[in-house]
Amino acid sequence: MKKIYVPMIRYGDKEFDEGFIGWGFQSTEEQNRDAQAVLNLVPKKNQTILDIACGLGSYHKVWLDAGHSVVGTDLSETFIMMAKNTNAAAEYRVENFYDLEEESKYNLVTMIDTPVEDEDVPRNAYRALKPGGSFVFQISNPEYNHMRGRLMENRRTWTENEDRTFLLTRNEYNEDIDRWEYEEWNLNVETGDIVIEHHFSSNLTFTRMVDILLAVGFCSVSFLDADGRPYTTSKEEPKNYFCVALKGIS
Ligand SMILES: C[S@@+](CC[C@H](N)C(=O)[O-])C[C@H]1O[C@@H](n2cnc3c(N)ncnc32)[C@H](O)[C@@H]1O
Repeated sequence: MKKIYVPMIRYGDKEFDEGFIGWGFQSTEEQNRDAQAVLNLVPKKNQTILDIACGLGSYHKVWLDAGHSVVGTDLSETFIMMAKNTNAAAEYRVENFYDLEEESKYNLVTMIDTPVEDEDVPRNAYRALKPGGSFVFQISNPEYNHMRGRLMENRRTWTENEDRTFLLTRNEYNEDIDRWEYEEWNLNVETGDIVIEHHFSSNLTFTRMVDILLAVGFCSVSFLDADGRPYTTSKEEPKNYFCVALKGIS
């Protein structure tokens, strides 16, 4: 019996990325709603926008049509190639967001449907912004997770697939630290191989996020829904808030 460990999320791996296109992105409707929300939250004209982890850049059309210029970057060559084919007027490049080194170039840096997990991305975004620019990204609403997480806690399923492999899944949620964990064991009874895929996501709290953003230099931080209403505790919806962090003028 052989155990083969494979990370569940493998952005940048061509085969994974091609499969991800079928299930991983938000619907066009959700993407367009988020793209419009960004423009409403930062209502300035003729902005130079850098969208990091842009994926297919499907929502860039909304920004281009509104008169902004758009640069999109992503780890995945597959996604960037498709983005280039969709939006000829935007500029794209394959880039890991941890390697972003540009300075004072953009009015707006965005990151949609991709969690900020540490202070490196905010630091790079801050550096890339011109004074007076904003970093806009999404952050999970902890109340939304707490409700659904509790339902998923300790959930295990055991399925027999058509190809006579057996799939064991485990889903855990730790409410105290807002951490999701998901694991699949795919057992092939003929070869004896067990392929184990594991993924976890840990969401930063709003207070921790404020600390990080202020520490890297931003001068003001707000958490708003897509209509510009501020975050209030104990509201289960929306799933994500937008965090708007402003780089000061001097
Ligand atoms: C859920 S998708 C969201 C894509 C896009 N922002 C959207 O809303 O459709 C997450 C994206 O993050 C990208 N990504 C993950 N880690 C990255 C990294 N270290 N540097 C650049 N892009 C990354 C992935 O390739 C993927 O396109």
